[in-house]
Amino acid sequence: MSYQNILSETDNGITTITINRPSKLNALNRETIQELHTAFKEADESSETKVIIVTGSGEKAFVAGADISEFADFSVAEGGNLAAKGQELLFDFVANLTTPVIAAVNGFALGGGLELAMAAHFRIASDNAKMGLPEVSLGVIPGYGGTQRLPQLVGKGRAMEMIMTAGMIDANQALQYGLVNQVTTPEALIETTEKIAGKIMKNSSVAIKSAIKAINANYEDGVNGFNVEIEEFGNCFGTEDFKEGTQAFLNKRKANFPGK
Ligand code: COA
Repeated sequence: MSYQNILSETDNGITTITINRPSKLNALNRETIQELHTAFKEADESSETKVIIVTGSGEKAFVAGADISEFADFSVAEGGNLAAKGQELLFDFVANLTTPVIAAVNGFALGGGLELAMAAHFRIASDNAKMGLPEVSLGVIPGYGGTQRLPQLVGKGRAMEMIMTAGMIDANQALQYGLVNQVTTPEALIETTEKIAGKIMKNSSVAIKSAIKAINANYEDGVNGFNVEIEEFGNCFGTEDFKEGTQAFLNKRKANFPGK
C-alpha cells in the first residue's frame, strides 16, 4: 500500500507508522486521518504485526494538531461531523485496537497530536517533546477525545488546567503527570520503544488482546469491567496460547506462542 502522508513499515513483528508531513509539522488533515485508519487496520489484521509504533517524521514534531487550514470556515454541523468522523476513523479506532499501540512522541504533540498519542495504549517521549491541548486558544475545544482521555491519564484538575490555559508541558512534566511512561533522548526514542515492544512480543498476543479489552472496558459507559475481565479470563482457557504458555512453564522451557 502506498501513502501520500504517512509511512508504514513492518520489521521483526513491529509495524512502525510514521506521520510524514514535516513541512506542516505532521498536522492531521482529512487525507492523513484516512491513511492512518487504513494503515492501523492493516497492521492490526496482519498476523506478522505484534506491536504497532506510531511516531512523527522530522526532528520537530510528533503531530502539531489537526490541520487548522481545513476547518477554519466550518459550520456547526461540519464541526460536529469532523469530530465524529475523526474519532470513528482514528482515535477510538486506535484506542480499541487489540494489537498493542505505542506512541513514540518525538516533538510537539499538540491538539489532535496529543489526542492521537493518548489514543495509543501508552506513550514514550523524547526529552524535546512538548505536549498540550491548545484548542481553546483557537476558540474551539479538543474534539478527538482529548477532554475524556486527558483527565483519565493525568487526573481532572491537571487536565482542566492544561485545557483551560492551552499551555504546553515538557516531557519531564508529562512523565511526572503519568502522561508518558518514559523519557529518552531523541536519538534513543525509537530504540527504547522497540525494546519495550520486544518485551511485549515475548508474551501471548492472544492474551494481550484479552487484556486490552478488559482494561478498556473500565472506560466504557454502562460496561462492567470486572465482568469483561471474567469473560476474557475464561476465554483464555480455550486458546492454544494458554496451552503452550502453561505447558512451557511446567516443562521449564520458553513458550513459543502460536497465536495472534
Ligand atoms: N495545522 C495546520 N498547519 C500547521 C499546524 C496545524 N495544526 N501546525 C503547524 N502548521 C504549519 C504552519 O502553518 C507552518 O506552515 P507554513 O510553513 O506553510 O506557514 C508549518 O506547519 C510550520 O509551523 P510554524 O508555526 O512555522 O512552526 P513554529 O516552530 O514557529 O511553531 C508550533 C510551532 C507548534 C508552536 C506552531 O506551529 C503552532 O502553534 N501550531 C498549531 C498548534 C495548534 O494549535 N494545534 C491544535 C490544532 S486544533
